[in-house]
Amino acid sequence: VSEQFLVRSYRGDYRVRIDQDESPESVFQGKIRFHVIIDSKVAEIYRDQLKKTLENDSVLIIQANEGNKTLQNCVNYVAKLLEKRIKRGNRILSIGGGVIQDISCFVSSILMRGIEWNYYPTTLLAQADSCIGSKSSINFGGIKNIVGGYYPPTEVVINPMFLKTLEEAEIRSGLGEILKICALEGESEFEKIAASYKALTASGPLLQRFILLSLNLKKSYIEADEFDTGQRNLLNYGHSFGHAIESSSGFAIPHGVAVSMGMDMANWVSARLGFEKGRVFDKCHATLFENYKMSKDVAICPEKFLSGIGSDKKNSEQGLGVIIPVGGWKFEKKWLKPDKAFQCACTEYLEGLKK
Ligand SMILES: NC(=O)c1ccc[n+]([C@@H]2O[C@H](COP(=O)([O-])OP(=O)(O)OC[C@H]3O[C@@H](n4cnc5c(N)ncnc54)[C@H](O)[C@@H]3O)[C@@H](O)[C@H]2O)c1
Ligand SMILES: [Zn+2]
Repeated sequence: VSEQFLVRSYRGDYRVRIDQDESPESVFQGKIRFHVIIDSKVAEIYRDQLKKTLENDSVLIIQANEGNKTLQNCVNYVAKLLEKRIKRGNRILSIGGGVIQDISCFVSSILMRGIEWNYYPTTLLAQADSCIGSKSSINFGGIKNIVGGYYPPTEVVINPMFLKTLEEAEIRSGLGEILKICALEGESEFEKIAASYKALTASGPLLQRFILLSLNLKKSYIEADEFDTGQRNLLNYGHSFGHAIESSSGFAIPHGVAVSMGMDMANWVSARLGFEKGRVFDKCHATLFENYKMSKDVAICPEKFLSGIGSDKKNSEQGLGVIIPVGGWKFEKKWLKPDKAFQCACTEYLEGLKK
């Protein structure tokens, strides 16, 4: 299977390909000098398939965790690349999930005012969602994703081989983002993935179809609004609630799993506050629950949740900026006051999880 498309960006078009056969090593055939940035776990699991990559004369192996995605650590990565005499015209070859993507994107954007980078996403979340959209998100001073910019790769190659070794939680995390984009697309798109949900496995061609669908749906948002000032905001559906769920659980719930719980909660709160009659909640709940049920018993402190959602970077003077269904399967950004009614709806939802 080989499928490809172009994404339009302020830096020019970039190509995205799904290709079972293409190894990251194929880039070494040209004249360009590459500097590899790779996830340590991927380097270990795929050491045979990536032999040539790991023998390259410049390889930066990084453990994928939030602590390694800080601005301070990016200084070290820049230093290491300069030690390897990185020059304008060289390229970064990035292999890993969202953490490695954020580091590679950010470092590529600041080195010599920007060098090209090729990306091989290795998690489902990165393959189906984060690999397009240009954003880099770097942590600073204990605040997640507070530094960054927009700097798309030159090329993205999606090799489904990588998905076979992911833990179940990582698969569910990627599925959370796929469920989100399908829900935003409309009721019938959501019904399709709901009907296929149980049959989705890391090695199946069905998952590949949904990866491609997810990217194609996301493409229209980012092409229309790359810098996230309007329509792209809708991709934050499930995210304000989801980020507060992540932080109040002490990051025990993977991002995309928290997003699926956050969508469920957004649908619930919307119905409770009378924006919608509860139809979206009823239609989506069973599938969303399937996706986050492995984390439903993780303790989420309601006070921490409410303070977390209150400090979301998308809030303004007008209130909490959340994406919710507003009737007729339509999603909109609404500014909600964190008043008693809102707090009750959230607490009620969180207590319902324990049943
Ligand atoms: N910039 C963006 O647009 C954007 C969007 C979404 C998320 N993110 C960021 O991405 C990060 C999350 O990324 P993620 O969910 O892709 O996971 P990740 O990069 O944190 O990796 C998750 C785990 O899977 C392992 N792993 C990676 N590939 C593997 C493979 N093929 N087989 C086995 N294990 C593998 C990693 O070593 C790690 O232990 C967060 O920091 C988040 O903020 C960024
Ligand atoms: Zn997300």
